[in-house]
Formats: sequence, C-alpha cells, structure tokens
Amino acid sequence: MIDQTKLPNQLIFVEYNDFNQIADAIRTLVVRGAPAIGISGAFGLALASLQSNAISKDELLNDLENARKILFATRPTAVNLEWGLEKILNIAKSGNSVEQIRESIISEAKKMADEDIEINKIMGKNGSILFDDNDTIMTHCNAGALATVAYGTALGVIRATRESGKNVKVIATETRPIQQGSRLTAFELKHDGFDVSLIPDTEVGYSMANGLVNKVVVGADRIVKSGHVFNKIGTYQVATMAKQHEIPFYVAAPLSTIDLETKAEDVIIEMRKGSEVTGLGDKKTAPDDINVINPAFDMTPPELISGIITERGVATAPFEESIQKLFEAN
Ligand code: MRU
Repeated sequence: MIDQTKLPNQLIFVEYNDFNQIADAIRTLVVRGAPAIGISGAFGLALASLQSNAISKDELLNDLENARKILFATRPTAVNLEWGLEKILNIAKSGNSVEQIRESIISEAKKMADEDIEINKIMGKNGSILFDDNDTIMTHCNAGALATVAYGTALGVIRATRESGKNVKVIATETRPIQQGSRLTAFELKHDGFDVSLIPDTEVGYSMANGLVNKVVVGADRIVKSGHVFNKIGTYQVATMAKQHEIPFYVAAPLSTIDLETKAEDVIIEMRKGSEVTGLGDKKTAPDDINVINPAFDMTPPELISGIITERGVATAPFEESIQKLFEAN
C-alpha cells in the first residue's frame, strides 16, 4: 500500500507480511478512508491465516478471531472495517480444512479488492448524471483512489463525470487537522490532471456565498438507515453551508458503508490525540498543555443531503425508504 502519511512529499509503497503491521498501518493512518481500511482488514486476516501454525480448523478460527479483534480495535467509526473482517471470517467458518480455508480467504480478499474498483466505477457512473458541464464541485477530506483500492467514491463520481465528456473544476478543502484535503485530494487530483483549487476549511462559506461552487460531493465512513451520514469532521459544516446557499450536497458511498443495524446516536465517533491540533508538522501552533477536543468525524443529518450515490443507484429523501430499496434491488 501507499504510505499516506508521507504524501504529498514522498510517494512510498510499503509491504507487510504480519497482520499486526496492518493494524498499526490502519491505526497510524498509513492507510485510511473507509473502503481502504475495510479491504486492508480483509488482507490482514488473510495474512493472519498464513502466520497461523494451526493444524485444525478450530485452531485456525481461534487465531483468526484473535487477529480480528486486534484489527477491529484500530478505528471505530468506518463500518467498512467490520464489514471486511466479518466477510472473511464467515468464509473461514464455512471452510473445511486449514489449507482450504487459507486459500479461500486469500482469494476472497483479492476478490473484494477487485470488486471495490468495479463498485466505485459503477457508483461514479450513477453519480455522474447529477453533475453538469462546467460545474465546480467542492469536496471535503479524501474520498479518492487513496481512500479506496482505486478510482474513489466521491472522487470516483468526479472522475466519471469528466470521463462522460463534461468539463469540471474541483475545490478541495484543506481538512484540518491532518489535512487529507491538501495532502491527499489536492495531490491525487493534480496528479490526474484535474483543475483543482485548494481552500482553507474556513473559506467554505466565502466560496459558496460568492458563487464559486455549484455542487458538493463527499464520501462517508458510516451511513445509518435513517440517512444520517458520518464522515470527516467538518462535513456537517460544509453541508449546512450548502443548504444555506441552496447548493446540492451529495454523498457517494458503497453499500458496504451503510449500516442498517446501528442507530445514529449509537455510532462511536473516534476521538484523536490533541497533538494533531496543537501543531502543524513539527511546528507548535498552540500553547503548551492546552485542552483539545479532536473528534475525527461528525454527523450530517439527512435533511441537509440531496442524494446518497451508491453502486445500486441514488437514494433520496425519505432516506429510510430509499436506502431499504437499494438493498432489495438486484
Ligand atoms: O480519518 P480518515 O482519513 O480515515 O477519514 C476518511 C473520511 O472521512 C473519508 O471521507 C471517508 O472514509 C470516505 S473515503 C472513500
């Protein structure tokens, strides 16, 4: 995988052969973004099966369960991690011998990675019809190729819109405190030849009030059945500002990001360390010992959302009904 902590200064690929390294990579944001950590979790379990000395199916399942717990504990908000781990564990449970389980979970992890790209491309096409020639699209955080296996969710929609022949510009928010917008989205879009402008998060209102933006598309870490969307901190502010200026606000996410079980009030929002806020790189930007409140995600309520773009189509209000329909569709 690409070490995302080194971007945009260095493009470094890292290789792991121990599931504990994958857990560390997720925890320290070497890999981040909901779909990318879901697939990383799946590959983590595939590695755990290769590391295991089990000679019976029960012993192997035991080792996989231990690895699952370690991988699961890395980050709480993106539901894709749980999805990826459960999918692999279920395959393991239905297997017969140690060797056969190893083979089937390795091939399932590879299949999930391939399918992630396919899904993003379909989602991109579904979303592209909502965007027009000469639109300027705002996005927040990084929901691109870097946050997935490839192509991206929100940035996948922007890519597909360009591929459909429409000319689009992008405004990327910086996304403090750890700048996925400036370090990753700006890097990724510039690398792919998009017309992208970077703004500080504090400029969202200005950009919208001054007609610099026509539409917004962001990704998601977890969407619950009521249509409440959990995504990078600041998404709620962007959505509120978009509503104020009557700018359509879209969310692009695969069905693996939709959690039909958990209620909005029960979703755990990851709290991260204060040093992400009290400094910029090595530079201290706040007084010593200052108290910091640093949630990694916030919740955007459904009334601020114009549509949720998925690989099965676009859900619109009332979301509870339209999300259910997506799951029933084939
Ligand atoms: O803390 P991060 O960088 O993992 O947060 C990522 C986001 O909030 C993304 O917008 C979300 O995972 C969608 S990625 C396709």
